[in-house]
Amino acid sequence: MSLLDEHGNPYSTASSDALASWERAVAAHQTYNDDPFPVVDAALEADPDFVMGHCFHAAASLSGTDKPGLVEVRKRMERLSDLAPRANDRERGHIAAIAAWAGGDWKKAAACWGAVLEAFPRDAFALHMVHSLDFFLGDPRILRDRVARVLPHWDATVPGHGHVVGMHAFALEETGDYPRAEERGLYACEQDPRDAWAVHAVAHVYEMEGRLEDGVAWLDATWDHWIDGVFAVHNAWHKALLHIERGEHDVALEIYDNVLFRPDNDFVQELLDAASLLWRLDLAGTDTGERWLALAPCWRRRTGDGTYAFNDMHTMMAMVATGDELGQADLIKTLEAVAQGEGTNAMMTRRVGLPVCRGLQAFGRRRFDEVVRHIAPVRYNTHLFGGSHAQRDVIALTLVEAALATEDMTLARALAAERIALKPSSRTNRRFLARAGLAQ
Ligand SMILES: [Fe+2]
Repeated sequence: MSLLDEHGNPYSTASSDALASWERAVAAHQTYNDDPFPVVDAALEADPDFVMGHCFHAAASLSGTDKPGLVEVRKRMERLSDLAPRANDRERGHIAAIAAWAGGDWKKAAACWGAVLEAFPRDAFALHMVHSLDFFLGDPRILRDRVARVLPHWDATVPGHGHVVGMHAFALEETGDYPRAEERGLYACEQDPRDAWAVHAVAHVYEMEGRLEDGVAWLDATWDHWIDGVFAVHNAWHKALLHIERGEHDVALEIYDNVLFRPDNDFVQELLDAASLLWRLDLAGTDTGERWLALAPCWRRRTGDGTYAFNDMHTMMAMVATGDELGQADLIKTLEAVAQGEGTNAMMTRRVGLPVCRGLQAFGRRRFDEVVRHIAPVRYNTHLFGGSHAQRDVIALTLVEAALATEDMTLARALAAERIALKPSSRTNRRFLARAGLAQ
């Protein structure tokens, strides 16, 4: 038995109720705002063998890049292996992608979802998952082109069209095409003002172009559309960055207290934003009070994880900021072991995660020459462990501070000059330039 969804994708189910719930789940997922899980579960209630429902849970747990989530992945994969013989080719493509990711080969997983999209370019769930994975893999050209390949199949008459344009907008921004990213992002938000990913794409443009007033005004104007949704923390983090750059550190701390931090938070993607914001405020010389002490336990539960190098860097920030030497040593030991292994995260750890974590550790010990020795050689490779340009800038900021603290200011001058050329309006960059003895 097979049914087709509104986008023409086939499902190995006889339950039209399951399919109707699934379509609502995909639509919710596309907004990066509504919680799709209750509707996915409604689909599984209507048909407990609904393959895409189990795929959703497995893939969402993997994209959480969190070790505890792997328990759920294993459970769903066992179920999917029973269901695979009666699944259709498209569904088997999803299962193959999940198996590759769970097996540690993230590129193969992206290729599997890419193959699903070549055959079914209106498979919004495949597009969403591969968009996340391409982001984690850190090559913005693939991020951009993967979306571009399906755009002709998502014209304005196709439900969800605006959300796909929003994804393209973000990818355009990451490749540095800011004018088109802004235009496409604004268009996507016109289609659905609650599209939190498209809002985010436009916020990135303003961040990268140093358009502080535009950025704050944009996030203030759209705030009510996303603040109660699943992407609230990250969009609020972007607003906090803009306030730091405006010198309004008190506003950034207010956003941290009101939106970013929850003591019981175990969602790593949100903990990243909290750690990154506090680290930046520390670098900027702001007193963050007891906040690290409250945040560190959320990370300490994850020390020794080694699931995703980008997360591990933020774990190290929390260990360094709280002076937890034992935690730092444990993490470095784990990362050294991970780096010896195979698979995508081992490569990320070897090439970026471990040297950056060693650099952060040295920063905490005020051994600034050592920071430079660890981080400077890898600074053009940091995209290899994913994240956005804006997120990874925390590494560059740390390196500049370290270079400024060394006796030899040669590197500091070079780094400050690079930064001012990229974002001339930035007050932070102007300050770096002045401190490096190159005042304009
Ligand atoms: Fe972002």
